[in-house]
Amino acid sequence: MKKLLLLPVLALVAFFFLHAKVKDNISIDVKPDVLEDQIPSHVKAVIDQKCYGCHNADSKNEKGKEKLDWDDFEASRKAKQLATMAKINEALIKGDMPPAKFLENKPEGKLSKEELETLLDWSAGKKKSPK
Ligand code: HEC
Repeated sequence: MKKLLLLPVLALVAFFFLHAKVKDNISIDVKPDVLEDQIPSHVKAVIDQKCYGCHNADSKNEKGKEKLDWDDFEASRKAKQLATMAKINEALIKGDMPPAKFLENKPEGKLSKEELETLLDWSAGKKKSPK
């Protein structure tokens, strides 16, 4: 009689053990809210050319790096990305980026009208296909 009772108990323990394992794997491997929202390639092309140089983890521009790090942005969760996009949108509307001082020596760093539009649309959350 006692042996018979042991079987369901073992099965139950095995079930919980497996269940816990499966759940662990899911939480480690899948972050759908980040993966679905990669920066579109036509937006990324502009960022790489006009913004990335000052805003990346290895940048020598300490202040720029501190304020915005694209590598960190891409690895961030969606809520954080949205907050950063709002800041980017604001900086672009004000004409703060790229910094005027930098453009004095490097006028080719200025955003073209199309590039500015691309970044404005993207940072405002408008989904648009490349022109
Ligand atoms: C020459 C280097 C340089 C380039 C190029 C540059 N930035 Fe910046 N960025 C900075 C610096 C420096 C700061 C910090 C400014 C400050 O705090 O006064 C900054 C700050 C910012 C901020 C934070 C603003 C805030 O108030 O929090 C955003 C957003 C930003 N940049 C976006 C961009 C975008 C988008 C581009 C490309 C169009 C760009 N930057 C290009 C140097 C640069």
